[in-house]
Amino acid sequence: MKKIHSLSRIALDAAIIGAGFMNAYAADETIRELAKERGRFIGTILNSEWFNDAIEPEFEEIHKTQFNVVVAENEMKFDATEPKEDEFNFEKGDKMVKYAQANGLRVRGHALAWHSQVANWVNNYKGQKEKLLAVLKNHITKVVGHWKGQIAEWDVVNEAVNDDYNADWRSTNSVWYEGIGAEFLDSAFVWAHAADPDAELCYNDYSLEWGLREGSKASFVVEQVKRWKANNIPITCVGTQTHIEIAHETTPQNVRALAKALAELNVTLNITELDIGFPKGSAGNLTKADYAKQGHLYRQFMDVFLEEPNMGEFVIWGLTDAHSWLDDQQGKTEGLLYDKQYKPKPAYDSVMASLKAHPASEVKSPYPDSILNPPDSCKTGNCGDSINALPRFNNKQNLSVHFAGRTLYITGLASKTAAKVDIFDMQGHLVFSAKDVKDNIEISSIPEGLYVVQIRQGVTRLTKQIAIK
Ligand code: XIL
Repeated sequence: MKKIHSLSRIALDAAIIGAGFMNAYAADETIRELAKERGRFIGTILNSEWFNDAIEPEFEEIHKTQFNVVVAENEMKFDATEPKEDEFNFEKGDKMVKYAQANGLRVRGHALAWHSQVANWVNNYKGQKEKLLAVLKNHITKVVGHWKGQIAEWDVVNEAVNDDYNADWRSTNSVWYEGIGAEFLDSAFVWAHAADPDAELCYNDYSLEWGLREGSKASFVVEQVKRWKANNIPITCVGTQTHIEIAHETTPQNVRALAKALAELNVTLNITELDIGFPKGSAGNLTKADYAKQGHLYRQFMDVFLEEPNMGEFVIWGLTDAHSWLDDQQGKTEGLLYDKQYKPKPAYDSVMASLKAHPASEVKSPYPDSILNPPDSCKTGNCGDSINALPRFNNKQNLSVHFAGRTLYITGLASKTAAKVDIFDMQGHLVFSAKDVKDNIEISSIPEGLYVVQIRQGVTRLTKQIAIK
């Protein structure tokens, strides 16, 4: 793509033409730079237009200069990556990872198990539990495996909670839930972790910014996270999409409360899809005060983000109002940091102001140095420690397990200490436990099905999914 505008040219344009918006910051001072100093990731999507080479050159110029984390708007979703059964298309995703590598951007993967944007062929297996489990496992294993070490964090499950006043799992219009039941979520996390043990794994949803009243979506998710953590289901983060409107003034404080609730569970909260839209009808009539109000809300979200130590990523669902799903699909408009001419809006200045008001020395980062300053080989993903100490495969003794009939055989155990064997169902419930196991054990009490077996001997641990027949 030919670049017709340099960044300084854009800044100049902003200063000259910006009768409406004046960008108060010098061209060499970027969100990205201030985010990095604070050990945080601030970013936006690559719109589908970017993947199709159908976007203005300013887009990429601003994108890579201002941000340090990136997400594909649609190109890593199920229908894009597995359009035909077991035939994968990684072309567009690879294009993004290459771009991220070249520009030192962290990559979020979005999204593995979601009821929406599932390839049509999956519906051929409606209601067939074993087949759907196999389909989802194959999808997650191959997609996450393809980008192992290159994608820092996955939205493993997206939007699985319904919109009822008393929140529960989304039980209709979801091929996964209807065919498999809630265990599809637990399984998805286990498979994703097996495919890339260093990746952060998130549960992502909308309306989590509506507070923690009993029965709310946010409370329901916190309860599930408690259960997942208690049962060693490898979740490390929650994503609050946060598609809001200008009138939603209480939402930043609700996000703060959610961050605090998750901090107690040693789980990170990321803002994953922020936009703060105006009603579509107001387009053309928006005043300076309206844009200032939008800026104020952006600032409050950024303040919360920087002040809560278990928040790591702040991702906006779009860069410019010229390309946003709000206009096409949401009856909203102008929710982003840059206007349709790529000029920074007051919201941009507010984000910068918040960053400056929170000096690097006062902002805690949830990430270890191996993630903040990764070697070149894994710039876009994680090759080192993931932040929340997942149950890792420290299997220096090369433990392995296999079944013969109903006998579980373990090889590789050190001879002197006995091992502990735990078996969990795919909901993460402990269904079998035995201490002092020497090299084999009879498992007769468990019905047929898929399970996760965990063998522990001292610091050595093997976690493996097994089918009991
Ligand atoms: C949206 C995209 O922006 C659109 O281009 C697409 O047509 C529909 O999906 N929650 C999510 C995102 O998790 O994947 C959605 O993205 C927006 C809502």
